[in-house]
Amino acid sequence: MLVHIGRIVNKKIIGKYAIPAFNTQDLETTQGIVRAAEKQKAPVIIQTSVGALEYAGIEELVGIIKTEARRAKVPVALHQDHCHDFSLIKKLINLGYSSVMIDASHLPYRENIRLTRTVVSYAHKRGVWVQAEIGRILGNEDWQKVRSGKDLMTEPAQAAEFAAETQVDTLAVAVGSVHGIPVNPKIKRILRTLKEHIDLPRLKAIKKKVKIPLVLHGASGVTDTEIKAAIKAGVAVFNIDTDLRVAFNTALRQNLKKHPQIYDPRKILTPATLALQMMAEKKIKLLKANNKGRK
Ligand code: G3H
Ligand code: ZN
Repeated sequence: MLVHIGRIVNKKIIGKYAIPAFNTQDLETTQGIVRAAEKQKAPVIIQTSVGALEYAGIEELVGIIKTEARRAKVPVALHQDHCHDFSLIKKLINLGYSSVMIDASHLPYRENIRLTRTVVSYAHKRGVWVQAEIGRILGNEDWQKVRSGKDLMTEPAQAAEFAAETQVDTLAVAVGSVHGIPVNPKIKRILRTLKEHIDLPRLKAIKKKVKIPLVLHGASGVTDTEIKAAIKAGVAVFNIDTDLRVAFNTALRQNLKKHPQIYDPRKILTPATLALQMMAEKKIKLLKANNKGRK
């Protein structure tokens, strides 16, 4: 069933388990995610990026997700990921998103606050949650490429001030995770110089001061041990995209290599969708979200 994000992300889950927010851009990915959630009886967030909406078409992609979500036997919430365009956010709210991310993290701090507040005021009047980002997450994500290092990590005191001034509902923090596969040599170098991938003391310090649910972006490259520690430290939502993509296209390549004669898209895509579903199930179990999806 399609639910408001507030039904599945709340203070009660913090420290116990977390909700996966999986990205989609097509029918196969959406079905793989929903099947994984149903199999594991888990609540999930399905999210779209600006690029995904451009790729598939807004009405087309939203139509697919809402149809799959409504039919699902588990709660599914629809969220817009990393969006810097207020007019697109308004459109998505009209289309039934229960949560949107205004990502103004590339702007100077006061401007990030100003734009986030404008979006919050619009969204809250319509019962919609808002996520924002404070600090900057390394790596490639849709329209953003963030290349420099530690100085972009979230400062706990600033995060608390930002949350209070903007009244956002969830907060994305930069604590060492990286968007996408770090193929960029500069990012690889930075990662090698950091002792731990996730800066747990920083995360704990943020959690102490910020009472709303925290979101960890770029969760694909993070080790299972770090994910478990981050849940304990208070992360309520983990954004996962790359690991699903890699699972999908690894299976796709293997299938085509093994059966070069197949040309029916259904035969080409079915094993890839299944591999994506398996990966989504693995992530659901890692976050301990399995069996938490009662209607
Ligand atoms: O917003 C989406 C993500 O943060 C996904 O990151 O591709 O590294 O899993 P990822
Ligand atoms: Zn992200």
